[in-house]
Amino acid sequence: MFAHEEVVIRAGVRTGLPIIIAVHSTVLGPAGGGCRVSHYADWRDGLTDALRLSQAMTDKCAIAGLDAGGGKTVVALPEGYTFTAESRREMLHDVGDVVHSMRGRYSTAPDVGTGPEDMAVIKERTPHVFCTPAELGGSGDSSPATATGVMAALAAVCACLDKGAALKTAPLKGRRVGVLGLGHVGSHLVRRLAAEGANIFAADVDQARRQLAGEVGATWLTPDELVEAELDILVPAAMGGLLTKELVPRLRCAAVAGPANNQITSPEVARLLHERGILWAPDDIVSAGGAIYAHSVELRHLPVQEANARVAEIAERLGEVLDLAEQDGVSPYFTVRELTRTRLGR
Ligand code: PHE
Repeated sequence: MFAHEEVVIRAGVRTGLPIIIAVHSTVLGPAGGGCRVSHYADWRDGLTDALRLSQAMTDKCAIAGLDAGGGKTVVALPEGYTFTAESRREMLHDVGDVVHSMRGRYSTAPDVGTGPEDMAVIKERTPHVFCTPAELGGSGDSSPATATGVMAALAAVCACLDKGAALKTAPLKGRRVGVLGLGHVGSHLVRRLAAEGANIFAADVDQARRQLAGEVGATWLTPDELVEAELDILVPAAMGGLLTKELVPRLRCAAVAGPANNQITSPEVARLLHERGILWAPDDIVSAGGAIYAHSVELRHLPVQEANARVAEIAERLGEVLDLAEQDGVSPYFTVRELTRTRLGR
């Protein structure tokens, strides 16, 4: 079934690159969602990603209580494609033009492969862009806020692991936490986890990140070792699709909670996790900090402190969902689907 409102695929007029914008839903408000610039074996894989990620944005905004819909941009780079400074600007202008042609039904934002400086270039072509640097009137880098949201989620997960302990009475100190992916969000996370005294394990496909792991006192593992490590919490902070039927039996963690989008590849995987007694915190809730922060500051004009307070509410929201799931004896995956369906009136 075609579940989306609109999908635009256009060859960038300057670069010829496929610019794919998927608007999943504007039921709750204009769609928002990041701009992913990434390599794909085939541009159609980029389309698949855009379809999945925009749908996830709808649920993310719905469950966070934002009056916003879900969309996503994917610029699908052919394998081996590299930018010059000039061609990168051109690509961003191509994105800006396509976003602008949607007349505000969709606003873009940073995502994997883009940051606030890129949003500034997009803004040269369209006002429909979040997270430009403060000098340009935006809320800047959304990654610290996403990390704040993840830390709030981890507090709720710890409370749940300690069998219903109250929030804040179940600290992260001494817990074995494994962060998979030290990118935009993961790099903030390991620093904050270190500040909380967690026992950190870290992995990234990029060996250059090993230095950061050393700085925060994390034990460096390969991604394969990390997913099989004995952990309290595994924190997926890299690409989606991590949790598969094949991977779940190999996990040796008590819980999985992280900001990577679309971690679960099918409802069956959610059931498998549940059967194994592994607590899974839905990424729709865990990863929402950046979107909540950007919306609070840029659309609702809340002061930074208020916006951060909204992000911190992720702890209570996740706690409620985990409780509901427990009462119903189902994976929180199904609880979230039910709640978003209700809010969207589907
Ligand atoms: N790209 C991020 C996300 O998917 C952050 C973001 C989204 C920021 C929407 C602002 C608006 O959540």
